[in-house]
Amino acid sequence: MGKGVSKLNEDIALDHDLLKGARHLSFEEKRILANRVMKKHGVAGVTLHWVNAISWFLLIFTGAALLSASYLRFAPEWYINMMDGIFGTRSAMLHFHIAIGVFWVSTLLLYGVFGYKNYVLDFIKHDLTIDKDDIKWFPAKALNLMGKLSHHKMPPQGEYNAGQKAYALVVAFSTITLIITGPIMAFHIGQPVIIQWAMMLHFVATMSVFAGVFVHVYMAALFPEERPAFFSMITGKVNELYAYLHHYKWWREVKNDEHAFFSEELKKDGIHLPELEECKNIKDHLSKGKNFDISGDEI
Ligand code: HEM
Repeated sequence: MGKGVSKLNEDIALDHDLLKGARHLSFEEKRILANRVMKKHGVAGVTLHWVNAISWFLLIFTGAALLSASYLRFAPEWYINMMDGIFGTRSAMLHFHIAIGVFWVSTLLLYGVFGYKNYVLDFIKHDLTIDKDDIKWFPAKALNLMGKLSHHKMPPQGEYNAGQKAYALVVAFSTITLIITGPIMAFHIGQPVIIQWAMMLHFVATMSVFAGVFVHVYMAALFPEERPAFFSMITGKVNELYAYLHHYKWWREVKNDEHAFFSEELKKDGIHLPELEECKNIKDHLSKGKNFDISGDEI
């Protein structure tokens, strides 16, 4: 067996052991996983995230100064004066807000139409679908933050953890609301009562995302444990140690695909790999992974 193939065999042997269930890792295992990388986001996904984030910030900065109903206005007087100073007139600020809104909606529609399978269905599957491990994650995360529960004993998570999914749900519902209410307000579609309802819903939807964005940015960009996730929104990749500890179910899914790929490719080259023979039926691979409850007991 060549050096490369024997190294691959060793890698797969370690995967097989780890596929039996999330467990405490030795220093050597941590070192090996930390040196491997997994693809998390593609270029198109990263671009969409940042176009969406920048559009949101521009919309919120202008929208806060544009709010006309006094009972909804939350921005201080100095901020509104500053924004008036930047744009010169309210009408110019409103036109800028509408232009960014149209650009944002057009980008989302473009992805929705041309990337329906890759982005919309993938987002629904990985970001918006809640399972019982997600429900258990919230109390477990509180214990974990207090230092009372280690990562490998947490309910295993998919590509996104339950906290991220909760935020993604808020973003999804608010986005749909804004796509409907924005044009009604901008182009005065319908009776005044419809426009008034649209204004209220537009405000509520924006505020739900705005409230969560502080936690999202803190958890995504500033919280040290999640630093690999932050860089994945730039490079598209995470190291396997982070994936194994924080997103065990997703790590398992990727391993399953990876082993199936190796199996096919090696077969073509007529290479026999003892460890891959272990995966008698690659489709059953996923069932090798076990789930744990909050106390660490197997379920
Ligand atoms: C400076 C601002 C922002 C930063 C630093 C940031 C960072 C990130 C990162 C690092 C991820 C990837 C998480 C992972 O792969 O585990 C992510 C995902 C995501 N971001 Fe942002 N983001 C920002 C603004 C926003 C805004 C404004 C929105 C929506 C209005 C948003 C919506 C999302 C959604 C829906 C996801 C996917 C699921 C999730 O992690 O919640 N982000 N963000």
